Amino acid sequence: MVTPTGLILLFYLVFYLFLAGMFALTMYIMLLTLDDYKPTWQDRLVTPGMMIRPKGDQLEITFSVSETESWDNLVQNLNTFLSPYNDSHQAQTNDNCPADQYFIQEDSGEVRNNPKRSCQFNRTMLEECSGVSDRFYGYNKGQPCILIKLNRVINMLPGKDGQSPYVTCGAKREDSDKIGPLVYYPPNGTFNLMYYPYYGKKAQVNYTQPLVAVKFLNASMNTDINVECKINSNTLATGSERDKFAGRVSFKLRINDK
Ligand SMILES: *[C@@H]1O[C@H](CO)[C@@H](O)[C@H](O)[C@H]1NC(C)=O
Ligand SMILES: *[C@@H]1O[C@H](CO)[C@@H](O)[C@H](O)[C@H]1NC(C)=O
Ligand SMILES: *[C@@H]1O[C@H](CO)[C@@H](O)[C@H](O)[C@H]1NC(C)=O
Ligand SMILES: *[C@@H]1O[C@H](CO)[C@@H](O)[C@H](O)[C@H]1NC(C)=O
Ligand SMILES: *[C@@H]1O[C@H](CO)[C@@H](O)[C@H](O)[C@H]1NC(C)=O
Repeated sequence: MVTPTGLILLFYLVFYLFLAGMFALTMYIMLLTLDDYKPTWQDRLVTPGMMIRPKGDQLEITFSVSETESWDNLVQNLNTFLSPYNDSHQAQTNDNCPADQYFIQEDSGEVRNNPKRSCQFNRTMLEECSGVSDRFYGYNKGQPCILIKLNRVINMLPGKDGQSPYVTCGAKREDSDKIGPLVYYPPNGTFNLMYYPYYGKKAQVNYTQPLVAVKFLNASMNTDINVECKINSNTLATGSERDKFAGRVSFKLRINDK
């Protein structure tokens, strides 16, 4: 004999089981449509942000030339970051690609062309900022190197007509007389087209993100300098209203002489 309360409980039990089933089925179908190698949803025409190394909690590089301890951790940070860029390591893992053109490795229809190869970015391409010819990256002479990278965006094509995007740095207006001359490595501060498009971590296992180093040759001492670096590209827009961090990075540099 089933009581009315029993019937209500039974009804809810069946009802909730049905809901759970619906949920599981929907989830299952969702997951089936996802592709391991490509993001399903991606905002087109995004300009990625940029980041600097060495990087602390804030975007601030402060040190005293004469106090080794004040820049030693910055140098260590760069050493660690650059170790996968060692020429020997790059020669083992990546290809020496033709410059100034995209390294396209499309899948042909349903046939996957994975894993995909990546191009060599040799540490020595950073010359004076490689930590090889000058193992203190200029910090001991008050001529620090700062590395800049462009955040990865899958399938992004950052230039057209064989023109690689390049980085330029400058001081915020009030500091323009303090920044002094800069030198960029690789020459002209370019992110060569051969490092693009990026196909994602899973498809391109040995991908090495290209870098640009900027060296401050005669920045004023004992004063804060607000520096801004930005990407110059004929396909990417910088600093739109919507995202002021797109294609640019700002940081504070202070070099003390004692
Ligand atoms: C990379 O090269 C630097 C200097 O040339 C060296 O000190 C470091 O041990 C190397 N790292 C690896 C992982 O081989
Ligand atoms: C990188 O260094 C390796 C080893 O020295 C060399 O064989 C290779 O040609 C270099 N690649 C580039 C792109 O300069
Ligand atoms: C990745 O690097 C390893 C060596 O570290 C190499 O054996 C392998 O072939 C590389 N894979 C691709 C897809 O480049
Ligand atoms: C740097 O830019 C100048 C002027 O745009 C150009 O003539 C030169 O070939 C470039 N150098 C490299 C290494 O790309
Ligand atoms: C470096 O900058 C100072 C001014 O801040 C200037 O007096 C000096 O001549 C510059 N040195 C060189 C080598 O350009």
